[in-house]
Formats: sequence, C-alpha cells, structure tokens
Amino acid sequence: MIMGGIPQEHYEPKTNAEKWIHSRLPIVGLALDFLAFPTPKNLNWMWVWGVMLTIFLVIQIVTGVVLAMHYTPHVDMAFASIEHIMRDVNGGWLLRYIHMNGASFFFIAVYAHIFRSLYYGSYKAPREVTWIIGVLILLLMMATAFMGYVLPWGQMSFWGATVITNLFSAIPFVGDAIVTWLWGGFAVDNATLQRFFSLHYMLPFLILGLTIVHIWAFHTTGNNNPTGVEVRRDSIEVTKRDTLPFHPYYTIKDLFAVVVFLILFAAFVFFMPNYLGHPDNYIEANPLATPAHIVPEWYFLPFYAILRAVTFDILFIDSKLGGVLAMFGSIIVLALAPWLDTSKVRSGRYRPKFRLAFYVLIVDFFVLMWVGGMPAEQPYVLISQIATAYWFAYFLIILPMLGVSEKPEPVPATIEEDFDREHPVKSAKGMGDAVATPAE
Ligand code: HEM
Repeated sequence: MIMGGIPQEHYEPKTNAEKWIHSRLPIVGLALDFLAFPTPKNLNWMWVWGVMLTIFLVIQIVTGVVLAMHYTPHVDMAFASIEHIMRDVNGGWLLRYIHMNGASFFFIAVYAHIFRSLYYGSYKAPREVTWIIGVLILLLMMATAFMGYVLPWGQMSFWGATVITNLFSAIPFVGDAIVTWLWGGFAVDNATLQRFFSLHYMLPFLILGLTIVHIWAFHTTGNNNPTGVEVRRDSIEVTKRDTLPFHPYYTIKDLFAVVVFLILFAAFVFFMPNYLGHPDNYIEANPLATPAHIVPEWYFLPFYAILRAVTFDILFIDSKLGGVLAMFGSIIVLALAPWLDTSKVRSGRYRPKFRLAFYVLIVDFFVLMWVGGMPAEQPYVLISQIATAYWFAYFLIILPMLGVSEKPEPVPATIEEDFDREHPVKSAKGMGDAVATPAE
C-alpha cells in the first residue's frame, strides 16, 4: 500500500458498484486515502510551497503545450513565430506572458521551498530520498528553463546558450567534442534550437513524474513540521492527536495561499510582464553582434556568480574548469546536506547558533544574486568570492561542526504538546468546541 508509514483509516467500498471497481482498480481508494493523509496539525505557512509548485508545474505544462501549437523551432522563423503568438493568436499574448512569468514564479516558490527545508531540517533522516529527488527536480527545472529561454531566438537566447554550452569545453580532453555534440554542429544553430525545443517539451513531464515520486516518498515518512518532532505512530488514535486529515484542513489553507500568490502573479502578467526579462531578447539573435552584457535570468544569477567567482587556477585546474566545478558543486553540496548536518535536533527553531548561520546563508544567496547581475569587475568579483566561500563553508564546515558544538534549546516531546502551547484555548476544549462557541 502506498501510504504504508503513517497509520490511517483506509477507504472501504460500501456499495456493490464501489466493491466491483475497488477489487479491479483501487483508484478511488487511493485518491481518498491520499486526501485523508494524516498531516501534522502544526504546519505553518512555509508548508504551502509544495502545493504552489504543483500548481505552477501544471500552469507551465498547459500553457507550454498550447504555445507549442503556434511556435516554430527554426532559426529563420522562431523569433517571428513568437511575435505571431503575441499579435495574431487569440489570447496568445496572455499565454506567453503567463508562461514567461510562470517560470519566474516557479523559481520563487522552489527557492522558498528549499530554504524552508533547510531551516526545519526536512532534508534529514528519514527524508533523504524526498530531498535528493527534490535536488534532481531542481536541476531539471534549471535545464528546462535554460532551454526554454533559447526558444524565442532573441539576442540573450543566442548568447546565453553560447556562453553556457561553451562551459562544457572546460572539461579536459573531451570538452570540445562534448560541446560539438551538444550543439549538433560547430555553433549554436538550427540543430541546437530544435533539440532544445524537443527537450524543453519533454523535461517537464519528467519533472511531473519525479514530483509524484517525491510526494510518494514523503507520504511514506510523513511530513516534517516546525518542531522537527515526528508524528507518533503507536496507533491510529495516537496519530490523530498529532495530525489532521490533509483535506479539508490543508486544502483550504493552501488554496488561500495559492490565491494570494496568484494575485501577485497576475500583477506581473498584466501590469509588468517584461519586468523580469531582458530587453535585448526583443532583438532577433545575431551571431555577429555580441551584447554588451550577457546576463542570465534572475533565478540563475546566484549560480552564475559562483561560476564567475573562480578567477584563478587551483593547482592543475584552470579557472574556467574551476568555475564550472564550483557551480555544479554548489548544488551537489545541497544534495549532501543530510549527511553533512550532524545535529541530533532536526528543526532550526531550537538551534540558536544554527539560526544565525542560516540567516547569513539567506543574505548570502541574495548577495550572490545581486553580484551575478553585475559586470565581472572589482569590487563585485571579490564580493562574489566571499559569498561563494560562505555558501560552501555553510554546508561543508558550519553544518558538520555546529552539530557537535551547539547546545540546542528544549524540544517539545510531541507535536500535540507544541500545538497545545500555541493554541491553548482551542485545544483544551477541542477544535470543534472552540469553533462552535465563539463567545468564549
Ligand atoms: C516541481 C517541484 C516540486 C514540487 C511540486 C514539490 C512538492 C512538494 C510537496 C507537495 C511537499 C509537501 C510539503 C510541502 O508542501 O512543503 C514537498 C515536501 C518536500 N520537498 Fe518538495 N517539491 C518540489 C521541489 C523540491 C525541491 C527542489 C526540493 C529540494 C531541493 C524539495 C524538497 C522537499 C522536502 C525535503 C520535503 C519534505 C518536507 C516535509 O515533508 O515537510 N522539493 N514537496
């Protein structure tokens, strides 16, 4: 059974029709068990991002499939086909602006989701698999967004693709051969555009598949929560004291957050649709004219800053290869976090020194984002080097050492105890009573 880990009541078919279908395909039971999943009752607003991400994945797939009906992946026609979508296709401008800004909002949600997991220790045992699948999803999201940005065949599309694909030439011996293989020729050209289109269409479905496995994994371990204390599993009755069924409690809470976030999203789509983009991408790609500054989309800037921070050779590794290794390394250290963090206490809520290091990491991320968009000159280079050093130090030095040196604050014994402290009146009388007698 899929929801093996956490005890819960399972759907029982009642009518003959229900029994007939259930004995052949238990899909209704699966869906209803999923909706009733026992979810910690103390989740805060930082637990809305997973559902938000699912909604944005669907938005991107639906708008993308329709855009692809009108887009032409050919170097002579791609740019014009985008203008055709904007001007001639009914609602085409809306589809495109939703898809364009949807990518940005997808990344806002994913970064919030990741930093939430880092703060509350959601990556730690037993949720390592959920976390690793998450890191894979992040890498696929980056690949998908990068290839999508090439499709309009503007100046930034072309030059961004040229700069980033060229990075692979830093790999010793086989680098140049890999780049030629990626391009399908000797420059970013039609073959490159067509394969990027093909992959940009396919990868979101892979992300969807991984998302299902991601959800399966945390349904097996149960959700983490702000205390980092596990849901009790002694019996269904005991589990119920720590949890609430996902529906209707969290469906309604998540829906509220989704509506608020979609209002912000709509403000961008309708009032400033090009704010997050680069004006140069409204100039058709020209291999003979290099733009003054080649900058990636905002969500790549922190990693772009790390790439450019390595301006010196390290032993036999030249600066270019060093930059590429640092960039990929900055994501690989994320994947290793479950084993680098040695603390017995899961949640940052009870770890004062960790909290400080974590807040610095957030500032560090924004500093990297800022310097990533600046020209590669002083003082930005030095700032990017310091910020890159902190990123690695956080994972490779601070996380392992804090677990040993820090004295955590007292952790509640159960989720119920934490909930009762936060909501004394309601829980003393029971949720239902408190709602029924508002005068109290
Ligand atoms: C398409 C992208 C993604 C989707 C749709 C998604 C979906 C979800 C959902 C629905 C949850 C349940 C709890 C919550 O809402 O926070 C969750 C939990 C989690 N996610 Fe993701 N996620 C995505 C990407 C990622 C990434 C990139 C990472 C990390 C690099 C990640 C790490 C985690 C972890 C560790 C948990 C467990 C936390 C808990 O159980 O409370 N996820 N995810």
